[in-house]
Amino acid sequence: MLVLGIESSCDETGASVVKDGRYLLSNVVASQIEIHNRYGGVVPEVASRQQLAAILPVIEMAMEQASCSWNEIDAIAATYGPGLAGSLLVGLTAGKTLALACNRPFLGVNHLEAHIYANWLRKGIVSLQDSIADWKYQDGDPLFPLICLVISGAHSELVLVRDHGHYELLGRTRDDAAGEAFDKVARILGLDYPGGPAIQRVAQQAEEELMQQQKPITLARKAYQLPRAWLRGTYDFSFSGLKTAMLHLAEGIASNQQTVGAENESKPSSPPTRYTRMGEQAAQQGAPNVAWLVASFQEAIVDVLAMKTRLAAQEYGVKQVILAGGVAANTSLRERMLQELQPLGVHLSYPPIEFCTDNAAMIASAAFFHLCLGEQHGLDLDVQPGLSLPFKK
Ligand code: KG4
Ligand code: ZN
Repeated sequence: MLVLGIESSCDETGASVVKDGRYLLSNVVASQIEIHNRYGGVVPEVASRQQLAAILPVIEMAMEQASCSWNEIDAIAATYGPGLAGSLLVGLTAGKTLALACNRPFLGVNHLEAHIYANWLRKGIVSLQDSIADWKYQDGDPLFPLICLVISGAHSELVLVRDHGHYELLGRTRDDAAGEAFDKVARILGLDYPGGPAIQRVAQQAEEELMQQQKPITLARKAYQLPRAWLRGTYDFSFSGLKTAMLHLAEGIASNQQTVGAENESKPSSPPTRYTRMGEQAAQQGAPNVAWLVASFQEAIVDVLAMKTRLAAQEYGVKQVILAGGVAANTSLRERMLQELQPLGVHLSYPPIEFCTDNAAMIASAAFFHLCLGEQHGLDLDVQPGLSLPFKK
């Protein structure tokens, strides 16, 4: 079955043709990151206007790359939530219109569920002419029951997945999502948007320098004693205390550097511009305290995510853990998860980096498994910006 998936929930416009929920014939993503980087975060008005400009060219490119005709598309799917209402509306309207024009079934997809289904996608692009006999359908599919850690820009949820579409919520964040914490702290420090990749870069640099000097990377990772909200007895998360601690430490370092700078220059300093010295440039120009602070922050997040996931895997006796959402791209998290789960004989899998962040292939994949259950939506389906995963309990 060939599904055309469309994604437009936030600041990425995507279209992708996927065969049987796993094999990509095409995958096109137009990102607005450069535009939003100027503002340090997503501006919803700007995002929806950019979605509108990108949607048709992106869909056309995806169809062209897939080298298939509209006749060969079996169904059309688009994200209907959660996300920014204006952005969602663009992709959903495009999807419904195409379904009507091509007389094909339409399915609205839950963006969070799609992040989970990114784990079913195989790397690389195939063509329809490739021999189907070579496509090993079950090999590489995650095995139920499994624990999924969903960590995106707005969600942090630990979920027990018993089967396709059967989700049980074990824990969720009580305040900021993990991705949100990365983004907010990056902003405090004057790093790029999105914050996750920027923080990973700075931390990696600090750790590589330590390795070159044959020093342990824990020097950076444990340089700052940052709070971890364990919320024992629950699988819930909380990252706002960590964010506040970072704010205070950043203020401290900024004013410290300002004082040192003023002493060295032996002239009155201009009033400290908040955190401007804390950016990537400062880290690159030999301010190890900033880079080490960033590495310690990343370690604090990774610590909590990995420990709670391990505990859940043990309690529910699953043989597989999967990661989903933008933060699943984080290499420190992946390494640490492996260290926690391997000794237990629990298999860890995560999507290739390009499928962790927003894309339309995951939309087509989630749609395929729903379509197989005979589901489809009417063309009156509206956007649901606050949609959550359909939990059974
Ligand atoms: O899943 P996603 O692309 O969009 C949402 O559905 O929210 O996730 C975006 C989030 C952002 O907060 C971004 O900072 C974070 O994922 N992210 C990362 C990394 N790459 C993206 N966080 C940590 N490390 C990364 N390498
Ligand atoms: Zn997402």
